Amino acid sequence: MKVISLANQKGGCGKSTIVINLALNFALQKKRVVLFDTDPQKSSYETLQVREDKLFKVVGVYSDIYQNLEKYEPDYDYALIDTPPHDTEIVTVSVVCSDLVIIPVQDSPLDIRSTKVTVDLIRKATLLNPDLKCYFLLSRIQPNTVLAKELAEILTNRYETAILKTQISNRVAYKYSLIYGKAVTEMFSNDAAATEINDLSKEILTILS
Ligand SMILES: Nc1ncnc2c1ncn2[C@@H]1O[C@H](COP(=O)(O)OP(=O)(O)OP(=O)(O)O)[C@@H](O)[C@H]1O
Ligand SMILES: [Mg+2]
Repeated sequence: MKVISLANQKGGCGKSTIVINLALNFALQKKRVVLFDTDPQKSSYETLQVREDKLFKVVGVYSDIYQNLEKYEPDYDYALIDTPPHDTEIVTVSVVCSDLVIIPVQDSPLDIRSTKVTVDLIRKATLLNPDLKCYFLLSRIQPNTVLAKELAEILTNRYETAILKTQISNRVAYKYSLIYGKAVTEMFSNDAAATEINDLSKEILTILS
């Protein structure tokens, strides 16, 4: 089972939106997926309760991440972990237990600066898990601006960490689809948001292959 965490202690950067879309997209591709929501705000957990089908397993886990991963390991292909903005301990444990950590960052210098806390936490986690792969993901960007391009360069240079080729734009489809607990790829398959999530899924699977 491959473990993917979404982490950034800067709140509101799109962790839950992205993790829900990835989990749904992988499950729609017939992969066996379990999503751990480690945020006591339960945004991913609650959002997915509105679905009538049980396309994949969603579990609220606020401690014992390692034990839960061990429990689900035999029956699942991918575990996705949504982490909270502030609780350092749960973010650290999630990251240490992961194969891949994705750090969504919004296209603003303020967000890039506050991401340092999470980058430092992940560097420490790498001492315990040297095989951990880590990538930034530009999230909620204004499409078709030079801002995202310039900020992507600043981000990778400042923190010497790779950045995913795929970028997630600020689009109504991401909000609308979650009213129904659906992925953008399910509800708006012709929208640019669906292309972004499909590209992101492919990029992640390539990194983990
Ligand atoms: N790509 C996007 N396009 C439009 N709106 C978005 C996008 N991503 C997230 N949002 C909106 O931004 C807000 C924050 O997103 P989300 O809850 O996914 O972030 P988060 O990082 O999980 O936040 P927290 O740190 O509080 O857990 C939500 O209102 C969500 O609907
Ligand atoms: Mg969240």
